[in-house]
Amino acid sequence: MKKVVTFDRPLSRVRADWSPVATVPCNYRSAGRSEGGKYVGHDTIPHLCHIELTYACNERCIFCYNPEHAKLGDIATIDRLVRAVAESQIPHVYLIGGEPSLLPVEKLNEYIELLAKHSSVTIVTNGLKRLVGISDRLACFGVPIHGANATTHEFLNQTRGSFEKTLDTVRYYVREGHDVRCIPVLTGYNYDQMYDIIRIAADLGMESIFVDRYEDGGVGSVHSAGGYDLKPTGDQFRIAVEQIIRAKQDFAGFGGRVGFGTAIPYCLDERMITEGITANCGVGTSFCAVNPKGEFRMCNQSQLVFGILPQETIEDIWNKPSLDIFRDLSWVDEPCRSCELLLDCTGGCKVDANCSDKFCIDYAVRGLSKPVAELVKKVEHRKLTEVYPGRYRTFRPNRYIKLTLRYPEKFLVTRYQTVKLDSMAVEMIQAVLDEAMTNERILVERFADRVEEHDVRLFVSRMIQVKALDLKEEVYDVAS
Ligand SMILES: C[S@@+](CC[C@H](N)C(=O)[O-])C[C@H]1O[C@@H](n2cnc3c(N)ncnc32)[C@H](O)[C@@H]1O
Ligand code: SF4
Ligand code: SF4
Repeated sequence: MKKVVTFDRPLSRVRADWSPVATVPCNYRSAGRSEGGKYVGHDTIPHLCHIELTYACNERCIFCYNPEHAKLGDIATIDRLVRAVAESQIPHVYLIGGEPSLLPVEKLNEYIELLAKHSSVTIVTNGLKRLVGISDRLACFGVPIHGANATTHEFLNQTRGSFEKTLDTVRYYVREGHDVRCIPVLTGYNYDQMYDIIRIAADLGMESIFVDRYEDGGVGSVHSAGGYDLKPTGDQFRIAVEQIIRAKQDFAGFGGRVGFGTAIPYCLDERMITEGITANCGVGTSFCAVNPKGEFRMCNQSQLVFGILPQETIEDIWNKPSLDIFRDLSWVDEPCRSCELLLDCTGGCKVDANCSDKFCIDYAVRGLSKPVAELVKKVEHRKLTEVYPGRYRTFRPNRYIKLTLRYPEKFLVTRYQTVKLDSMAVEMIQAVLDEAMTNERILVERFADRVEEHDVRLFVSRMIQVKALDLKEEVYDVAS
């Protein structure tokens, strides 16, 4: 049955400065880790931090996972949060909200300059307000297009005129040379528009498209409880997957950068595995969120607070035993508990309106007992290349890379990836950066007494693969 898409239907009451879900401090004491048990692994710091600059917003999306709509907070407080995140040198930082574009461009540029010394910075914005003059040190804009037409987009965000304004903003950012990622939210109202949304994103010259399946939280959960069909049904989800796969094949300009952005159970649709569009969110492993009060959570939708910035550092909070409330997997129910994919998939989205003060397996698999053993052998993660060309290459370091050496793990941060390097790889990338070495043959010679030529050349291939190095046109004979 076609869904009612109209402005006339009354929305559930959601007042400004009101929160359906209060945050809860986490005092979890793990029973102790057992030898041979399964635990979610992590590095000394998370790889991605979402800074929720504000809960103020100029749109009123009926699905929004945020707990409230608030007024723009005190800028000095936001400054302190951003400084604290910058000091921890987190590889990837998203400036998110609420709506970041409600802050002055100068302020956002100040944050980008501060963070970009060690982090790759993304702004996630609804595109209603255009940010003119954003620093080119910004790695990416994330902008959602929620419908293939104004009716659907504006029904979902309850903001008349926003569809054309957002498309214009995207055109402007693309013209200015920014990468712009399209991040629609998949709901029961737009599941059959995924192909057309991706076509629009391709026409606009967007860099990639990652679909966020609706997760039941915050303001969204008030509306879904009030009769709005925000959670896509199984059949709707499968239609969306079919459209996403077809669009990924048809719009080759994305270079395969089409898929899901939020965690979805791997077993929900086998094609997600066979087509390589599975997504996990990195809760407990690599992801964290900080709200405008500085409260550190493992996910934007989780209300469990593990510490407060800037009183504590991210690295101190991230390594607290209380995070075992997620990492010891004691919260996992069947069918995930006995699933061989558990450590990889970790049960889809772990937080929703029913468990935002704890963790739970995804709403779509709760209560199921589907065996997924046959899927295990089909899961393939992107592997590092094993090849290099017959000729030496010249290259230059990509302008977005940074090296973070202050933690036990040594991180190479590229525009969209975090790569862990061993000590020899650190020396080689330092030679490229500090000695301005842009020639593979010279790099081979420089390390000849310690590293096999084969390994130096593989290193160069892999650095090109992760976009740490940009390949130049010239290649010349190994013998020359
Ligand atoms: C909370 S918004 C903040 C940034 C900005 N206001 C925007 O809408 O892009 C961050 C991202 O989460 C997505 N989002 C919001 N509520 C969601 C929900 N309940 N489930 C999945 N994604 C959601 C939004 O579409 C947006 O891409
Ligand atoms: S999803 Fe973004 S634009 Fe929509 S209400 Fe939430 S914060 Fe605002
Ligand atoms: S861990 Fe759970 S959600 Fe993930 S594939 Fe296994 S059964 Fe499905």
